[in-house]
Amino acid sequence: MTRPSPTTIISGGSRGLGLAVASRLLERGDRIATFSRSGSAALDDLASRHPGRVHHEHFDAADSAAVRQFVAKTVDRFGRVDHCVANAAVAAEGILATMSDADIDAMLTVNLGGAIVLVRECVRQFLAQPRALPDAEAGSVVVVSSVVAARGSPGLAVYAATKAGLEGFARCLAREVGPRGIRVNAVAPGFLTTELSATLSQADRERIVRRTPLGRLGATGDIVGAIDFLTSPGAAFVTGQTLTVDGGGAA
Ligand SMILES: NC(=O)c1ccc[n+]([C@@H]2O[C@H](COP(=O)([O-])OP(=O)(O)OC[C@H]3O[C@@H](n4cnc5c(N)ncnc54)[C@H](OP(=O)(O)O)[C@@H]3O)[C@@H](O)[C@H]2O)c1
Repeated sequence: MTRPSPTTIISGGSRGLGLAVASRLLERGDRIATFSRSGSAALDDLASRHPGRVHHEHFDAADSAAVRQFVAKTVDRFGRVDHCVANAAVAAEGILATMSDADIDAMLTVNLGGAIVLVRECVRQFLAQPRALPDAEAGSVVVVSSVVAARGSPGLAVYAATKAGLEGFARCLAREVGPRGIRVNAVAPGFLTTELSATLSQADRERIVRRTPLGRLGATGDIVGAIDFLTSPGAAFVTGQTLTVDGGGAA
């Protein structure tokens, strides 16, 4: 029996890592549903190169009702959901003592709350739908963490708390839903050259490169392979793990 094209939901697919993952998974044959607050020419271009295989909406990841409707609309459009990549996040850098309530709230509600609600909606769908094939898993989840969750970095305490929270969430959920055929893993990238890290000073960039065995900052293309793998049949026995992709360990 032919395996049907999987449908993968990726939050934050308009740029950076989310866009790169969308591009890679479209190349392997997935249909992609993604959302972000704004669109981008790059995502429009990707959608035009894969007609009928990209669904994109604009809303805030902190809006639980919108997330719920988005997953339902994805099912209406593509018939099912097979993988969920919780990628959207914001990073407000600054020392904790002077950080505003608004910045703390934004990181907690988008990076942690938004990801949890998205994953819950996808897991509900995995449990409700028939499996793509009788021997197929029910679904898989990847949450995008960061090396700062495990290693720490000054000025990123709240951001790191959201990422450490996501890793704990993934480990627990993997145990909870494993018996139902759902895998849950985290990917923890090192610093990447995207808009999110644009505020890194030149001195910080040089320090990270100096401490990275592979001698450079990561690019989104360095991370997509890990997410491609974790959402593929090749990872059928991998769950509850955090896969660090950071060129060898910059502190
Ligand atoms: N860049 C790094 O150095 C680095 C390192 C380790 C881990 N990571 C993680 O990798 C993931 C991707 O980061 P990135 O560097 O690709 O970031 P990015 O370039 O800033 O892209 C973030 C994506 O998420 C969307 N997004 C942000 N806030 C949102 C919200 N409230 N609601 C809906 N969508 C939202 C953005 O679109 P809109 O702004 O239009 O909403 C965009 O599509 C994140 O989880 C990040 O924490 C990044």
